[in-house]
Amino acid sequence: MKGIILAGGSATRLRPCTKVTSKQLLPVYNRPMIYYPLNTLIQAGIKDILIIVAPERAGDFLNLLGSGSEFGVRFTYEIQDKPRGLSDAFIVGENFIGSDDVTMILGDNIFEDNLAEEIKSFKIGGKIFAKKVSDPQRFGVVQFDKDNKAIKIEEKPEKWISDYAITGLYVYDNRVIEAAKKVKPSKRGEIEITDLHNYYLGLGELEVAMVKGEWLDAGTFDSLLEAQILAKEKLQDKLII
Ligand code: TTP
Repeated sequence: MKGIILAGGSATRLRPCTKVTSKQLLPVYNRPMIYYPLNTLIQAGIKDILIIVAPERAGDFLNLLGSGSEFGVRFTYEIQDKPRGLSDAFIVGENFIGSDDVTMILGDNIFEDNLAEEIKSFKIGGKIFAKKVSDPQRFGVVQFDKDNKAIKIEEKPEKWISDYAITGLYVYDNRVIEAAKKVKPSKRGEIEITDLHNYYLGLGELEVAMVKGEWLDAGTFDSLLEAQILAKEKLQDKLII
Protein backbone atom coordinates (compact mmCIF):
# COMPACT_ATOMS: atom_id res chain seq x y z
CA MET A 1 0.00 0.00 0.00
CA LYS A 2 1.37 3.38 -1.05
CA GLY A 3 0.18 6.69 0.43
CA ILE A 4 -0.50 10.07 -1.16
CA ILE A 5 -1.16 13.39 0.56
CA LEU A 6 -2.73 15.88 -1.82
CA ALA A 7 -1.44 19.23 -0.60
CA GLY A 8 -1.71 21.59 -3.57
CA GLY A 9 -4.75 23.67 -4.38
CA SER A 10 -5.31 27.41 -4.21
CA ALA A 11 -6.92 27.84 -0.76
CA THR A 12 -8.84 30.92 -1.85
CA ARG A 13 -11.21 30.62 1.10
CA LEU A 14 -8.36 31.21 3.52
CA ARG A 15 -7.02 34.39 1.91
CA PRO A 16 -5.13 36.48 2.90
CA CYS A 17 -3.57 33.88 5.26
CA THR A 18 -2.67 31.72 2.27
CA LYS A 19 -1.26 34.50 0.11
CA VAL A 20 2.34 33.64 0.98
CA THR A 21 2.03 30.09 2.30
CA SER A 22 0.02 26.91 1.78
CA LYS A 23 -3.13 26.04 3.66
CA GLN A 24 -1.58 22.71 4.66
CA LEU A 25 1.32 24.51 6.37
CA LEU A 26 -0.87 26.73 8.56
CA PRO A 27 -0.83 25.83 12.25
CA VAL A 28 -3.58 23.67 13.65
CA TYR A 29 -2.95 24.22 17.37
CA ASN A 30 0.64 22.97 17.84
CA ARG A 31 1.37 21.29 14.52
CA PRO A 32 1.35 22.24 10.84
CA MET A 33 -1.94 21.09 9.29
CA ILE A 34 -0.30 18.43 7.11
CA TYR A 35 0.90 16.53 10.21
CA TYR A 36 -2.68 15.38 10.87
CA PRO A 37 -3.30 13.56 7.54
CA LEU A 38 0.29 12.36 7.68
CA ASN A 39 -0.45 10.88 11.10
CA THR A 40 -3.44 9.01 9.63
CA LEU A 41 -1.21 7.38 6.97
CA ILE A 42 1.67 6.58 9.31
CA GLN A 43 -0.71 5.08 11.87
CA ALA A 44 -1.91 2.73 9.11
CA GLY A 45 1.65 1.48 8.66
CA ILE A 46 2.15 3.18 5.27
CA LYS A 47 5.83 3.85 4.77
CA ASP A 48 6.07 5.11 1.20
CA ILE A 49 4.31 8.48 0.91
CA LEU A 50 3.98 10.89 -2.01
CA ILE A 51 3.33 14.52 -1.19
CA ILE A 52 1.75 16.44 -4.07
CA VAL A 53 2.30 20.19 -3.84
CA ALA A 54 1.70 23.38 -5.81
CA PRO A 55 4.78 24.65 -7.68
CA GLU A 56 5.23 27.89 -5.73
CA ARG A 57 5.23 26.10 -2.33
CA ALA A 58 7.35 23.02 -3.03
CA GLY A 59 10.43 24.30 -1.15
CA ASP A 60 8.46 24.98 2.02
CA PHE A 61 7.13 21.40 2.18
CA LEU A 62 10.61 20.01 1.57
CA ASN A 63 12.07 22.19 4.32
CA LEU A 64 9.38 21.14 6.77
CA LEU A 65 9.17 17.42 6.05
CA GLY A 66 12.49 16.44 4.45
CA SER A 67 13.16 12.83 3.52
CA GLY A 68 10.73 11.33 6.00
CA SER A 69 13.46 9.70 8.11
CA GLU A 70 12.38 11.78 11.12
CA PHE A 71 9.03 9.98 10.92
CA GLY A 72 10.39 6.55 9.97
CA VAL A 73 8.93 6.78 6.45
CA ARG A 74 10.06 7.78 2.95
CA PHE A 75 8.70 10.86 1.21
CA THR A 76 8.54 11.49 -2.53
CA TYR A 77 7.44 14.88 -3.85
CA GLU A 78 5.60 15.74 -7.06
CA ILE A 79 4.45 19.11 -8.37
CA GLN A 80 0.87 19.55 -9.53
CA ASP A 81 1.15 22.35 -12.10
CA LYS A 82 -2.46 23.42 -11.73
CA PRO A 83 -5.25 22.41 -9.34
CA ARG A 84 -7.00 20.20 -11.89
CA GLY A 85 -9.07 18.31 -9.35
CA LEU A 86 -8.74 15.52 -6.80
CA SER A 87 -8.61 12.69 -9.37
CA ASP A 88 -5.42 14.28 -10.71
CA ALA A 89 -3.59 12.85 -7.68
CA PHE A 90 -3.58 9.43 -9.37
CA ILE A 91 -2.32 10.84 -12.67
CA VAL A 92 0.43 12.97 -11.09
CA GLY A 93 1.20 9.98 -8.85
CA GLU A 94 1.20 7.30 -11.57
CA ASN A 95 4.92 6.49 -11.47
CA PHE A 96 5.03 6.60 -7.70
CA ILE A 97 2.06 4.22 -7.34
CA GLY A 98 3.58 1.74 -9.80
CA SER A 99 1.60 -1.49 -9.54
CA ASP A 100 0.49 -1.03 -5.91
CA ASP A 101 -2.75 -0.09 -4.17
CA VAL A 102 -2.97 3.44 -2.86
CA THR A 103 -4.47 5.39 0.02
CA MET A 104 -4.98 9.07 -0.76
CA ILE A 105 -5.76 11.68 1.88
CA LEU A 106 -6.40 15.37 1.45
CA GLY A 107 -3.85 17.61 3.12
CA ASP A 108 -6.50 19.59 4.97
CA ASN A 109 -8.48 16.65 6.39
CA ILE A 110 -8.32 15.89 10.10
CA PHE A 111 -9.73 12.68 11.56
CA GLU A 112 -10.17 11.95 15.23
CA ASP A 113 -10.45 8.20 14.58
CA ASN A 114 -7.52 5.88 14.13
CA LEU A 115 -8.45 4.34 10.76
CA ALA A 116 -5.51 1.94 10.58
CA GLU A 117 -7.60 -1.24 10.69
CA GLU A 118 -9.99 0.04 8.01
CA ILE A 119 -7.08 0.84 5.71
CA LYS A 120 -5.16 -2.37 6.43
CA SER A 121 -8.22 -4.55 5.79
CA PHE A 122 -8.65 -3.17 2.24
CA LYS A 123 -8.54 -5.93 -0.38
CA ILE A 124 -9.87 -4.86 -3.78
CA GLY A 125 -11.82 -2.11 -5.53
CA GLY A 126 -12.37 1.08 -3.59
CA LYS A 127 -13.01 1.99 0.02
CA ILE A 128 -14.24 5.43 1.01
CA PHE A 129 -15.22 6.93 4.37
CA ALA A 130 -18.50 8.69 5.10
CA LYS A 131 -19.62 10.93 7.95
CA LYS A 132 -23.04 12.32 8.81
CA VAL A 133 -23.02 16.12 8.51
CA SER A 134 -25.50 18.98 8.82
CA ASP A 135 -24.44 20.66 5.54
CA PRO A 136 -24.18 17.85 2.95
CA GLN A 137 -24.53 20.23 -0.02
CA ARG A 138 -20.86 21.28 0.59
CA PHE A 139 -19.52 17.78 -0.10
CA GLY A 140 -19.59 14.71 -2.26
CA VAL A 141 -22.52 12.79 -0.79
CA VAL A 142 -23.39 9.08 -0.64
CA GLN A 143 -26.92 7.72 -0.52
CA PHE A 144 -27.72 4.31 0.99
CA ASP A 145 -30.63 1.92 0.48
CA LYS A 146 -32.53 0.40 3.39
CA ASP A 147 -29.87 -2.31 3.78
CA ASN A 148 -27.17 0.39 4.13
CA LYS A 149 -25.74 -0.40 0.73
CA ALA A 150 -24.35 2.61 -1.18
CA ILE A 151 -26.53 3.22 -4.24
CA LYS A 152 -25.75 6.74 -5.40
CA ILE A 153 -22.92 9.23 -5.14
CA GLU A 154 -23.23 12.84 -6.15
CA GLU A 155 -20.88 15.84 -5.94
CA LYS A 156 -22.34 18.79 -4.00
CA PRO A 157 -25.99 17.86 -4.66
CA GLU A 158 -28.36 20.82 -5.03
CA LYS A 159 -31.29 18.58 -4.11
CA TRP A 160 -30.96 16.64 -0.85
CA ILE A 161 -30.11 12.96 -1.32
CA SER A 162 -28.49 12.06 2.03
CA ASP A 163 -26.71 13.52 5.08
CA TYR A 164 -23.60 11.41 4.54
CA ALA A 165 -20.58 13.35 3.28
CA ILE A 166 -17.65 11.54 1.71
CA THR A 167 -14.52 12.46 3.64
CA GLY A 168 -11.09 13.12 2.13
CA LEU A 169 -9.64 9.64 2.61
CA TYR A 170 -9.80 7.13 -0.24
CA VAL A 171 -8.34 3.64 -0.68
CA TYR A 172 -8.21 2.27 -4.21
CA ASP A 173 -6.65 -0.59 -6.06
CA ASN A 174 -4.30 -0.01 -8.98
CA ARG A 175 -7.08 0.35 -11.56
CA VAL A 176 -7.63 3.87 -10.21
CA ILE A 177 -4.81 5.23 -12.39
CA GLU A 178 -6.48 4.30 -15.68
CA ALA A 179 -9.90 5.29 -14.33
CA ALA A 180 -8.57 8.74 -13.36
CA LYS A 181 -7.22 9.29 -16.87
CA LYS A 182 -10.73 8.81 -18.25
CA VAL A 183 -12.45 11.35 -15.97
CA LYS A 184 -13.77 14.37 -17.88
CA PRO A 185 -13.74 17.83 -16.27
CA SER A 186 -16.98 18.80 -14.51
CA LYS A 187 -18.90 22.06 -14.88
CA ARG A 188 -16.48 23.73 -12.47
CA GLY A 189 -13.58 22.50 -14.61
CA GLU A 190 -12.20 19.87 -12.21
CA ILE A 191 -11.67 16.15 -12.61
CA GLU A 192 -13.83 15.11 -9.69
CA ILE A 193 -13.07 12.21 -7.38
CA THR A 194 -16.80 11.45 -7.36
CA ASP A 195 -16.35 9.98 -10.85
CA LEU A 196 -13.84 7.48 -9.44
CA HIS A 197 -16.21 6.45 -6.64
CA ASN A 198 -18.91 5.97 -9.26
CA TYR A 199 -16.57 3.88 -11.39
CA TYR A 200 -16.07 1.44 -8.50
CA LEU A 201 -19.73 1.67 -7.46
CA GLY A 202 -20.66 0.65 -11.01
CA LEU A 203 -18.38 -2.38 -10.74
CA GLY A 204 -20.01 -3.30 -7.42
CA GLU A 205 -16.62 -2.92 -5.75
CA LEU A 206 -17.04 0.16 -3.60
CA GLU A 207 -17.08 -0.20 0.17
CA VAL A 208 -18.23 2.70 2.32
CA ALA A 209 -16.93 2.72 5.90
CA MET A 210 -18.30 5.04 8.59
CA VAL A 211 -16.24 7.60 10.44
CA LYS A 212 -17.33 7.53 14.08
CA GLY A 213 -15.25 10.30 15.63
CA GLU A 214 -14.97 13.91 14.54
CA TRP A 215 -13.86 14.79 11.04
CA LEU A 216 -13.06 18.19 9.61
CA ASP A 217 -11.75 19.67 6.44
CA ALA A 218 -9.95 22.76 7.64
CA GLY A 219 -10.59 24.75 4.47
CA THR A 220 -12.59 27.68 5.87
CA PHE A 221 -11.84 30.00 8.78
CA ASP A 222 -14.63 28.47 10.85
CA SER A 223 -13.57 24.88 10.22
CA LEU A 224 -9.94 25.86 10.84
CA LEU A 225 -10.95 27.22 14.24
CA GLU A 226 -12.91 24.02 14.96
CA ALA A 227 -9.85 22.02 13.93
CA GLN A 228 -7.67 23.94 16.39
CA ILE A 229 -10.07 23.12 19.21
CA LEU A 230 -10.36 19.46 18.17
CA ALA A 231 -6.56 19.19 18.04
CA LYS A 232 -6.10 20.78 21.46
CA GLU A 233 -8.90 19.00 23.28
CA LYS A 234 -9.05 15.54 21.72
CA LEU A 235 -6.05 14.71 19.57
CA GLN A 236 -2.94 15.47 21.62
CA ASP A 237 -2.60 12.00 23.17
CA LYS A 238 -3.72 10.21 19.98
CA LEU A 239 -1.11 11.57 17.57
CA ILE A 240 2.00 9.51 16.94
CA ILE A 241 3.93 12.28 15.15
P1 TTP B 1 -10.30 22.22 -1.82
O1 TTP B 1 -10.50 22.67 -0.41
O2 TTP B 1 -11.46 21.75 -2.56
O3 TTP B 1 -9.63 23.40 -2.68
P2 TTP B 1 -8.52 24.45 -2.25
O4 TTP B 1 -7.62 23.89 -1.19
O5 TTP B 1 -7.86 24.93 -3.50
O6 TTP B 1 -9.33 25.63 -1.52
P3 TTP B 1 -10.36 26.76 -1.99
O7 TTP B 1 -11.61 26.03 -2.38
O8 TTP B 1 -10.53 27.57 -0.74
O9 TTP B 1 -9.73 27.56 -3.09
O10 TTP B 1 -9.19 21.10 -1.86
C1 TTP B 1 -9.14 20.05 -0.95
C2 TTP B 1 -7.73 19.59 -0.75
O11 TTP B 1 -7.17 19.08 -1.94
C3 TTP B 1 -6.76 20.66 -0.28
O12 TTP B 1 -5.84 20.04 0.60
C4 TTP B 1 -6.08 21.09 -1.55
C5 TTP B 1 -6.04 19.84 -2.36
N1 TTP B 1 -6.14 19.99 -3.82
C6 TTP B 1 -5.01 19.78 -4.60
O13 TTP B 1 -3.94 19.53 -4.08
N2 TTP B 1 -5.14 19.84 -5.95
C7 TTP B 1 -6.32 20.09 -6.57
O14 TTP B 1 -6.36 20.09 -7.81
C8 TTP B 1 -7.48 20.35 -5.74
C9 TTP B 1 -8.80 20.64 -6.37
C10 TTP B 1 -7.34 20.28 -4.38
